[in-house]
Formats: sequence, structure tokens, C-alpha cells
Amino acid sequence: MTHQDELKQLVGKTAVKYIKNNTVVGLGTGSTVKFMVDALGDRVKNEGLSIVGVPTSERTRKQANSLGIKTKGVDEVDHIDLTIDGADQIDKHFQGIKGGGGAHLWEKIVAINSDKNMWIVDESKMADELGSFPLPLEVIPYGSTQLLKRLEEKGYHPQFRIRDGKKVKTDSNNDIIDLHLQRIENPRSLAFDLDQMTGIVEHGLFLNIVDTVIVGREDGPEVLTK
Ligand code: A5P
Repeated sequence: MTHQDELKQLVGKTAVKYIKNNTVVGLGTGSTVKFMVDALGDRVKNEGLSIVGVPTSERTRKQANSLGIKTKGVDEVDHIDLTIDGADQIDKHFQGIKGGGGAHLWEKIVAINSDKNMWIVDESKMADELGSFPLPLEVIPYGSTQLLKRLEEKGYHPQFRIRDGKKVKTDSNNDIIDLHLQRIENPRSLAFDLDQMTGIVEHGLFLNIVDTVIVGREDGPEVLTK
């Protein structure tokens, strides 16, 4: 295991201590969340913890079910008590970029329907300013090449996400365009602009969503609350 993986595992194990019995828990997506779901599976198995998970991707659903964690879809639950997810970049104002794993649409739907949101990251994700991590957009395939041109004209440096020579598809069968912005000076106005553009289903700016961030640092987990 790499050192970065050790930090991810540390925050994953720390986060599951916040999960209470008989609650509904949003389960994020990504390599850090994978460690968290492993640790949650241990609690379910060893302590008989009873929870319902609401997964934010097919990947997470399969992992959770394979560990004996019950899951339901977001429309099958009344409410979600706490969602634990990873992030790609977090600034000092608790604003984040998500979607590096292509799951930010479902992640945002689960997040905005949760009473509380916690992000778990290794310390490399903390930044003064957002933007050095490319900002993901989930886009409808129909007209997406025209959309890419409009994003280019705005100076947003868009690129389709390609893997093995093919466009990456989301769980909703949409495409992903990453904006290589380098710096996002005003996340709120960028989010507003992207929200207005036809063809973009959702962008990866998660503003004013998270309540608690657990950062994996050399000297242990640091818990930051808003
Ligand atoms: C999934 O699309 C993302 O939003 C992830 O939550 C984010 O990319 C963090 O993933 P890692 O824990 O793998 O870095």
C-alpha cells in the first residue's frame, strides 16, 4: 500500500466512527471512500451495526453489497442522516471540486438530500484556491461537441474525458468534459455560469455543501468543522 493509501485508509476508518446505529448513510465514490466502505463493512459484521447505505455509484453499491451492507436508492429513503464522500480539491473556505471519478452528479444529488455531509481526504487535496484540479462536467451526449466549442469560446479549456480511446460514460450514460482552468478565482460566479449552459447536467463545484472534513495528515487525522 502506498503512503497516500495509508492516509486514505486512516480517514476512512476515522469517518465510520461517526456513523450511528439505525441511520441512513450516503456512501460516496472513489479510492478514499472504498477504504471507508471496507471499514463500514467491518462494523456491520463485527458490531451488528444496522444502517442503510445510499450509494452514489454502481461501483460503491456493488462493494457495499458484497460486504453485507444493505443499500437503497436515493428515492427509496425518507431522508439521509449523513453522507461520507471523498473530494478532489478543497479550499480554505470548505468549497470543493468533485467528479474526478465521474460520479459527481449522483454524489451531488445524494449530498443535497443529506442532513450532514462529511468529506474524507488525504492532505494532498487541501489547497488555498480551487482549479489546479480539472473541473468535471457531466454533459448530455447530444450536442456535446457544440457545447465543447462554446466552452472553448469562454476560455474554459475543455477536454472530453477519454479512456482507452473512448469517451468515458457516467452511470447515467452521459459524457464528461473536464475544464483545465488552473485557477478558479470566483467559484460562485463560475458555478452560476455553468448552471445556465444547456447540455451541462451538473458541474463538479460543490459549494456550501460540506459540514465536516477529515484530513489525513502525517501526524494523524485532522477533523475540520465549518
Ligand atoms: C468521484 O467522482 C469523485 O467525486 C470522488 O469523490 C473524488 O474524485 C475523490 O476520489 P478519490 O478518493 O479517489 O481521490
